[in-house]
Amino acid sequence: MAMTGDESRPWWQEGVIYQIYPRSFADSNGDGIGDLRGITQRLDYLRELGVDGLWLSPIHPSPMFDFGYDVSDYRGIAPEFGTLDDFRTLLAEAHARGIRIVLDLVLNHTSHLHPWFLESRSSRESPKRDWYIWHDGRGGGQPPNNWQAAFGGGAWEWDEATRQLYLHSFLVEQPDLNWRNPAVEQAMMEIVAYWLDMGVDGFRLDVINWLVKDEQLRDNPTKLLGRRPYDRQRHIYDRNRPETIDVVRRLRALVDRWPERMLVGEVYNEPPGNSSLSAEYCAGGEGLHLAFDFSLLYASWSAEDFGRVIDTWDGLLPEPCWPTWTLGNHDQRRILSRYASESNRLARGRVASTLVLTLRGTPFLYYGEEIGMLDVKIPRARLQDPLAKAYWPLPVGRDPARTPMQWSAAAHAGFSTVEPWLPVHPEYTEINVERAEADPGSLLHWYRRVIRLRREEVALRRGTYRRLPQGSGVLGYVREHEGERVAVLLNFESRPRPAALPTGASWRVLAASGHRVGDRIAGGTIELEPDGVLVAKATAPQARTLGSEARGRAAAGR
Ligand code: NOJ
Ligand code: CA
Repeated sequence: MAMTGDESRPWWQEGVIYQIYPRSFADSNGDGIGDLRGITQRLDYLRELGVDGLWLSPIHPSPMFDFGYDVSDYRGIAPEFGTLDDFRTLLAEAHARGIRIVLDLVLNHTSHLHPWFLESRSSRESPKRDWYIWHDGRGGGQPPNNWQAAFGGGAWEWDEATRQLYLHSFLVEQPDLNWRNPAVEQAMMEIVAYWLDMGVDGFRLDVINWLVKDEQLRDNPTKLLGRRPYDRQRHIYDRNRPETIDVVRRLRALVDRWPERMLVGEVYNEPPGNSSLSAEYCAGGEGLHLAFDFSLLYASWSAEDFGRVIDTWDGLLPEPCWPTWTLGNHDQRRILSRYASESNRLARGRVASTLVLTLRGTPFLYYGEEIGMLDVKIPRARLQDPLAKAYWPLPVGRDPARTPMQWSAAAHAGFSTVEPWLPVHPEYTEINVERAEADPGSLLHWYRRVIRLRREEVALRRGTYRRLPQGSGVLGYVREHEGERVAVLLNFESRPRPAALPTGASWRVLAASGHRVGDRIAGGTIELEPDGVLVAKATAPQARTLGSEARGRAAAGR
């Protein structure tokens, strides 16, 4: 299998990973729902983009109350997505192109229709009763504690038949497993082994820091501010229990029995950007290979805010730990809907993508961001996301960023031959892959170029990260590896800004708005275009300029 660069660095450290929401990527059989064959048919597009791995949101059988994050069979494939054979074909075809496949694994909860839960709820004496978290309550059916469900309402559901309550951190249809029961862990470890044996390259671990709950089920302390009751608690007893890291270590030990497999965990902690908690899951190299902390995703569009969260997350993960960078996923609004307006979309798309693709760490892209896909306004009658339905008309729903991939200007954006499960963006005749491919100035071509730069420039893949002091509005840093240096300057403002390129070297442009690739620039003050980008490589031997940069860093308080 093709590797990126030196074999001594694993693929998941140097590569770029692309998240696919299978329901919305490509529909091969005209039922309006994306499927595995659709993904297989688009692998050449993904190879051309240059990505090294695909993370597929859940593909297992599920009643789809939470669109696959409620699994009813961990070893199968949801019929609407295809068959196990279709999956094997996808795996083989992806591997043939040097692309790895990462599955989404939901360990915290199952569907309420999973045979384990059906058995568990059948009677108090069921051998699987203790696979989930059941409780008598405080009398009169009152919940045992104040825990809230992340999707609204209390976290405990009364079961009339057996007269106890069960815990669900998300929907009522997503009962939490009891990870204090070794039989649960054993069953999940076997599922992990089953997919690794088949050749799957890793797992994205859903809400991994939720896994083990407080043994005494203590009340979470409350706090004053927060939109929903859920947000007005400090989640110290229903999340991040120390025993969860122990499970993660055991998972890692299992996965390490197969070569080059990877675990990336979703480790969300509020307040957004509580990165130090997330970083703990690396466990000194014995826990998760990678974790999402989401601090970048929640940063406001300013060089200062981005710089602050980047320095924090980067600083918390010295090797063998390794950062991840992402600006979008299936739970968030689309990048350009959050950060740009019609006039600066293309330019800000370049700034955002250059950032995640050139920092020290593994970039995760979300399908469609490479063509600048935007949120789609979903009429109430077509809402799908349970969160959107529960909170209507609050704009918390996730459907807007889960709409069909825009492949072409053909009907239904070339995604399907029939009306898809969610509406396509009304501007799909403008924003689509076919059109972007034909336009050398498109965002898609920019993504391809910067992803290629990562392959070509060892400094971008594995170099150190060092901030360059800049004036307001500009974020700058240098990546350096064994004397090779690449500088990145990003203008977060829609007006020209001066930026400082380190002196003592001459710089060759690798990618830029406002300069041609290959242009030479002397170090010193340069002007960045509005929302402009410059990626350049030092070509002359490094002179003694580090002293002045270090002084600048000290002045900036680092
Ligand atoms: C996090 C997933 O990203 C989200 O989509 C899902 O609803 C929850 N976990 C519950 O599994
Ligand atoms: Ca289909």
